[in-house]
Amino acid sequence: MAETIGLYVHIPFCQKLCHYCDFLTFEDQDDVIPQYVDYLIKEMQLYQDRDYILDTIYFGGGTPSHLEADLMAKIMDGIYATFKVTDDCEVSIEMNPESVTEEKIKTYQAKGFNRFSMGVQSFDPKVLQIMGRLHSRQTAIDKFHLLRDLGCDNVSIDLMFNNPRQDMDILNRDIDQAIELNPNHISYYSLMIKDNTNFQRWLKAGRIKLFDEKTDRDMYHNIQDRLSQAGFNQYEISSFARDGKESRHNKKYWQLENYLGVGMGASSNIDLRRFTNTRRFKDYFAAIDQGQMPVESSEMMDLEEREKEFIMLNMRLRKGFDISVINQRFGIDFKEKYKDALEKHLKYKVIQIEGDHIYFTDYGLDVGNQFYLDIL
Ligand SMILES: C[S@@+](CC[C@H](N)C(=O)[O-])C[C@H]1O[C@@H](n2cnc3c(N)ncnc32)[C@H](O)[C@@H]1O
Ligand code: SF4
Repeated sequence: MAETIGLYVHIPFCQKLCHYCDFLTFEDQDDVIPQYVDYLIKEMQLYQDRDYILDTIYFGGGTPSHLEADLMAKIMDGIYATFKVTDDCEVSIEMNPESVTEEKIKTYQAKGFNRFSMGVQSFDPKVLQIMGRLHSRQTAIDKFHLLRDLGCDNVSIDLMFNNPRQDMDILNRDIDQAIELNPNHISYYSLMIKDNTNFQRWLKAGRIKLFDEKTDRDMYHNIQDRLSQAGFNQYEISSFARDGKESRHNKKYWQLENYLGVGMGASSNIDLRRFTNTRRFKDYFAAIDQGQMPVESSEMMDLEEREKEFIMLNMRLRKGFDISVINQRFGIDFKEKYKDALEKHLKYKVIQIEGDHIYFTDYGLDVGNQFYLDIL
């Protein structure tokens, strides 16, 4: 039976690695890009008999816009030849400012891309420099305008806070600039120090310092207040959108809907099965050569695990979830089953229940971990 799902396509290439990033991506493997593109298409063909209908497609990375325009076109042609795609499918691409060109944008548009997500991180020269970004503040602004001039009416930008060298004044100037550009969507992430990154090494060596927890929260609240005053709705912990411009694809992750991930390291979630692809080129190519899915790990989750996951992910959304939905999906009486945890966190105003609806309060968004622990 035909099933409607989201498709994630992983592009593990960047021009240069940023000092904070541990995503599965390479700065010195451009030679394999054409082969990788061919194998992505072959991998998708392994799913051809599944009768999937795609209503969201998301190219993430790495930096999908690092690929030449004709290669992106080739992957999209491969998708259209392999899967059914709905007429109103949301098709997103992650880009970074230095690799965006007029030719690429025009190709993306011709191939059905309708949501453009550009990683900006900060508009401050010093912050950009320490992060290891290749673009200047002006390049980010110019490329944003280029997208608009070419008719892209759904543009998102990624920003980060709590970066070294970014105090509250710099953060405020970043927010001013973001509001002035007026994107349709902003993802605003708190810097995480990841293993085996330069930031981790520099932190250990005392070369950079992090802000304390209170400053991190002050910055977050400032972002929430200012973006909300500017008319952005916060619909998830890190996501702010103009009306109707929430990321449909990302909502599939948080609402535990089905998605297929192709490309190295990509994860899939289909019904109760979760599987993740290999992270090595050699293994990825070898599996596909043998007509096998390049899957490295796969688990069947039981309903109980899935139910906890449903709660954790849905609570990332500001509107939380409907209790009748979880009751129906997992055959439980949610209020009864989690009575103790709910009573405790209602008392401390971590969560709010209104009718059928449960969600984190503003305070709960900051201290949600304890709620998760009690649910688990
Ligand atoms: C795949 S990148 C986006 C596209 C492109 N590669 C770029 O960097 O412009 C996804 C986003 O994850 C965020 N990110 C990456 N590493 C992070 C970290 N250590 N802490 C917080 N956010 C991070 C950044 O905002 C980045 O834009
Ligand atoms: S943040 Fe983006 S450009 Fe920088 S290394 Fe990570 S994926 Fe590549």
